[in-house]
Amino acid sequence: MKLVLLGHTGYVGAWILRYFSEQGHDVQTIRTDVADLSQVRDALKEVHDSVVINATGKTGRPNVDWCEDHRLETAKVNIDGAINVCEVASGQGNYVVQIGSGCIFETKKRGSEETRKRGKEETRKRGNEETGERGNENGESRKIYAYTEEDEPNFFGSYYSQTKAVAEGALKEISNVCVLRIRMPLQGSPNPKNLLDKLLQYDKILSVPNSVTIMEDFMPFLERVIDKRPVGVLNAVNPGVYEHRDLLELYREIVDPSRSFEYIGLEEFEGMTKAKRSNCVLSTKKGEEMGIAMPSVEGNLQRVLESYRKKR
Ligand SMILES: NC(=O)c1ccc[n+]([C@@H]2O[C@H](COP(=O)([O-])OP(=O)(O)OC[C@H]3O[C@@H](n4cnc5c(N)ncnc54)[C@H](OP(=O)(O)O)[C@@H]3O)[C@@H](O)[C@H]2O)c1
Repeated sequence: MKLVLLGHTGYVGAWILRYFSEQGHDVQTIRTDVADLSQVRDALKEVHDSVVINATGKTGRPNVDWCEDHRLETAKVNIDGAINVCEVASGQGNYVVQIGSGCIFETKKRGSEETRKRGKEETRKRGNEETGERGNENGESRKIYAYTEEDEPNFFGSYYSQTKAVAEGALKEISNVCVLRIRMPLQGSPNPKNLLDKLLQYDKILSVPNSVTIMEDFMPFLERVIDKRPVGVLNAVNPGVYEHRDLLELYREIVDPSRSFEYIGLEEFEGMTKAKRSNCVLSTKKGEEMGIAMPSVEGNLQRVLESYRKKR
C-alpha cells in the first residue's frame, strides 16, 4: 500500500510518518500550499490508487488563541486546504483520511434546553447513548452524553473550532473520505503539543469530563482505518470518560509528588483564555461496531505516565 502524507512536519503528521515508516510502509511526503488549489492539483497529479492522509492544519502557536487573530490564514488551511486535498485526492481514486477534531462539541449543562431536547430525541432514535457516570467533588454523580458521528457541531466558542466544523460538514459530502475526529492528543513522552506538557504549564486546572486520544493507541487505530476504509466521520478517541484531574493526580503519584494543582470552575477558567475551549465526550460505538477501536482510557493513563517518567 502506498501512503501519501501531507503535514508530515507537524505534530500529528510526524507521528504518522514515524509509525508507518517503522511498520515498513512506503510513505511519500508532500509539502505544497494546500490553500492553493492549482498547487494541490500539481503536487498530487501522479497520486492514484493510494491512501492520502491530510494532517495539515492551522492549530495556532502557542495555542488556538492565535487563530482568533489570524482568521483568514486559519480558514484558508483548515477549510479551503482540507477541501482542496480531499476533492483532488478522492477524485483521482485515492482513499483519503482527513485529520479532524472533536473540539466542535461542548457538553451542555444538565437541565439545559439542549440536553432536554436531545434526551428525548436520542431515546427515540437509538436508545440512550449516555456514557458512564462521573462523580464530582460533592459526591454527586451524573451521566455524560457522548457525541456521535451523526451529531451536528454545537461548539462555536473559538474560531479554530468553527473552521473544523465547517470543514467536516463539507468533507463528509465527498466520496472516499474519512474524517477522523481526534481530541487533546496525549503521549507517553515529553512534547510541547502533548496534552500533559500543556497542562504542566498551569497551576490552575479546569477538570471536567472529556475524551482524549492517546497517540500510541491512535497509530494502530489509523492502520485499522486504512485497512477497513470507512467513509464519513469517525470519532478517534480512547473509549471512556477522562478528566484532567485523573491524569494530574496520577502524575503526582508516578512522576513528581512535589507538584500540586488547583482545580477551578468553568467561570474562572473562561476568563483566562481569549477563545473558549471545547469540553466534550465522544462516543466510540460506531468504530467499535466496525472493529476499529482503541483501548479504554481508564487503566491506560498509568501506562502513559510510566512511559513519560522514563522518557522525560
Ligand atoms: N494537536 C492537536 O491538539 C489537535 C487536536 C485535534 C485535531 N487536530 C488536527 O490535526 C491536524 C494536525 O494538527 P497538528 O497539531 O499536527 O498541527 P501542527 O503541529 O501545527 O502542524 C501543522 C502542519 O500543517 C502544515 N501546514 C500549515 N499550513 C500549511 C499550508 N498552507 N499548506 C500545507 N501545509 C501546511 C504544517 O507544515 P509546515 O511545518 O511546513 O508549515 C505542518 O506540517 C490539524 O488538522 C488539526 O486541526 C490537532
